[in-house]
Amino acid sequence: MEKKVTQNIYDQPEFFAAYSQLPRSLHGLEGSPEWPAARSLLPDLQRKRVLDLGCGFGWFARWARKYGAAHVLGLDLSENMIARAKADTDDLGIQYVIADLEQVELPEASFDFAYSSLVLHYVENFERLAITLFRTLVPHAHFIFTVEHPIYMAPTHPG
Ligand SMILES: C[S@@+](CC[C@H](N)C(=O)[O-])C[C@H]1O[C@@H](n2cnc3c(N)ncnc32)[C@H](O)[C@@H]1O
Repeated sequence: MEKKVTQNIYDQPEFFAAYSQLPRSLHGLEGSPEWPAARSLLPDLQRKRVLDLGCGFGWFARWARKYGAAHVLGLDLSENMIARAKADTDDLGIQYVIADLEQVELPEASFDFAYSSLVLHYVENFERLAITLFRTLVPHAHFIFTVEHPIYMAPTHPG
């Protein structure tokens, strides 16, 4: 069977250039409309081992470290995103790694909290990822995620 290639629009130069001008790219979490709601749901991150699925420019990983996370692993498919995330920190408690969430393997019971912002709508095999995530999180860990809503993404009707 032919292996499916995962979409990777963030490594297309025009798309990445346009994405880099969005408020969330320029201003980070404060420029992200969903952040106040997501933040209100977060557990205490003190000493937590944190996983950020689809970390993008890495803003959340840096925020989590600022608020006490022991370590953050940020995963993203895009070389552009990971290069930019790496360029913005020298914190040894953060690891940014290129990885495809359709295929990622993660060590068992190794994280206390997982976060994912505006990424899961890209993942076709969500069931596989959910199983991987369940295994890599310790019991009673939390997973907070957001996905795109049509109110922001739907094309406007001409009439
Ligand atoms: C809208 S951006 C969100 C980035 C960041 N989480 C944020 O909130 O600013 C979507 C991100 O998902 C990543 N992504 C899409 N499909 C992916 C996949 N299969 N595996 C890993 N990352 C993926 C993209 O490369 C991009 O960085």
